[in-house]
Amino acid sequence: MQRNVKTKKTRRSGTTKRTSPRRGKPASKKPSAVWDQAAQWYDALVGLKGSEYQKAVIFPGAMQLMQLKKGETVLDLACGQGVFSRYLSQRKMKVTGLDTSEEMIRFAQSRSDASIRYEQGDAQDDRALQGKTFDAVVCLLALQNIESLPPVMHNVKRWLKPGGRFVMVTTHPCFRIPRQTHWGWDEQKKIQYRRVDLYGSESAIPILTPPFAQANSFTVTYHRPLQSYFEAMAEAGLCVNGLEEWTSHKTSEPGKRAKAENRARQEIPLFMALRAVPASV
Ligand SMILES: C[S@@+](CC[C@H](N)C(=O)[O-])C[C@H]1O[C@@H](n2cnc3c(N)ncnc32)[C@H](O)[C@@H]1O
Repeated sequence: MQRNVKTKKTRRSGTTKRTSPRRGKPASKKPSAVWDQAAQWYDALVGLKGSEYQKAVIFPGAMQLMQLKKGETVLDLACGQGVFSRYLSQRKMKVTGLDTSEEMIRFAQSRSDASIRYEQGDAQDDRALQGKTFDAVVCLLALQNIESLPPVMHNVKRWLKPGGRFVMVTTHPCFRIPRQTHWGWDEQKKIQYRRVDLYGSESAIPILTPPFAQANSFTVTYHRPLQSYFEAMAEAGLCVNGLEEWTSHKTSEPGKRAKAENRARQEIPLFMALRAVPASV
């Protein structure tokens, strides 16, 4: 499906005026319903231990950024079918998983033991996990699927104990924007380059899930420029103290362009990870 429904210039005087993607077409379905439809496909993709990228890049990277001690409490925000919750639990953390999709939570419970507590709830809802606090909150590959950042960041601040850490990982907002960034080949220079057609505007991009499914089975990727993430965190009282950009672990099969492809893969990051802590006032 190639419907690109919401792209609007929003930059003014160095601040981002957020356009509510709610006014765009793709958010016409509730996120829970959208992800309920995709749950079986996503569960098959990720399985018990994670996809290739999760296992090689995301889980070890997030673990290092979180600086956890054994026995600490962790909220896996938008936990999906619980793949990272299980990873954390195996490393002796006390884990709670929250996700808006009932189907995802059902898969998570069926694949995990009872020591992990799963709850259905919306990360944007200020009533979610009322009264609960954690040593760390982690959100992997999911903020880009959530419509509004400010309420999520306010909740993250509310859920963090003093000294707590928030770690988020997204596909890189500068270089990995669905349908707006592409690899290209420069024949003269013999280099593979990354083309970026849109960056500064927030946009809501429907993605067919699973690929090749019916047109009404889609999830939404909310693209935001970096300043939107920093603004939402700062407004919520979160202070970024770590940023990492992770490249793919893959290499090309030997061939004419393999060297250029490998170089491009190492130069243009695939994921961005941020760590934030409650700001001290
Ligand atoms: C791409 S999956 C990532 C799941 C998991 N974090 C992982 O790394 O496998 C995105 C998840 O975000 C969840 N989600 C989307 N909107 C949400 C919201 N408003 N509140 C909580 N979860 C949400 C979806 O249900 C889905 O499970």
